[in-house]
Amino acid sequence: MTTADGAALTVDARAKINLALHVTGRRGDGYHLLDTLVTFATFGDRLTFAEADADRFTLSGRFADAVPRGDEPDRGNLVLKARNLLREYAEAEGFSATPVHIHLEKQLPPASGIGGGSADAAATLRGLARLWRLPGEIPAPLALSLGADVPMCLAGKPLFARGIGDAITPAIGFPRLFLVLVNPLHQVATPEVFGALEHRDNSPILDGDMPQRAEDWLALIKSARNDLQFPASRIAPVIFAVTDALAATGAELVRMSGSGATCFGLYPDLASAEIAARNLAAAYPDWFVVATTTISSGDAA
Ligand code: C5P
Repeated sequence: MTTADGAALTVDARAKINLALHVTGRRGDGYHLLDTLVTFATFGDRLTFAEADADRFTLSGRFADAVPRGDEPDRGNLVLKARNLLREYAEAEGFSATPVHIHLEKQLPPASGIGGGSADAAATLRGLARLWRLPGEIPAPLALSLGADVPMCLAGKPLFARGIGDAITPAIGFPRLFLVLVNPLHQVATPEVFGALEHRDNSPILDGDMPQRAEDWLALIKSARNDLQFPASRIAPVIFAVTDALAATGAELVRMSGSGATCFGLYPDLASAEIAARNLAAAYPDWFVVATTTISSGDAA
């Protein structure tokens, strides 16, 4: 694939990890108010964009078959929705949004609490804004209309997200982490997990100033929790098996991300994470298991 200047444009769609997620309330429209501390794995999907004679969408990667190919509203593909929305916006602003070949390398399991679809949508907005040379920031309401997690994926840096996930504060000085991500390849429906939640008015994660040192960030993560973990585990008890298996590897901390079912273990270095991942993959060959580092506040999005 080539662009007008001869190069395809590649954008990483990194896995989003909710290191902690507190549900702090509920809005009138049923959406939940959150306080979540999020970082991004270096592991994820990858999208490539190139100008073409007509719009095209192609797929590869381990989970390619799980991606809906149509862009009908109810069988939605967030990449195509993002492309269509940004094109509408670009044309309304007087820019030419030329046809594009988008290739998605799908490495993240779908509906798994690590933002695969949202990360893909955010990467599409970022890639097409560059391809179409749109000036300025992508409008926040446009990103939010694609899903509550799309604005945080667009930010792509360690952050706190509050509101329904769209009020973003960068987590300055946040350290690089070494994780193992495990998903039992059991899809959990986000609305069902929120629906099963018993306590909706919990305390925020951070009550005061942001930590300054790496060890203080780790202490904050350990002192927090994911309020969706218990309701998700009741709906999909295999999540208990995942957290038990991660705990048995000696991880410093084990927790579920988002509405599940992906859980992560935290390790002191990449070598320990890789050993744990190898052992888990051997013991549970049907699960998705990957060792990854996360980006730190200083890395480019
Ligand atoms: O916005 P998104 O499509 O990702 O949300 C999926 C569903 O998850 C929503 O329809 C809602 O039921 C639930 N949700 C919520 N509160 C949030 C985010 C999502 O209740 N902050």
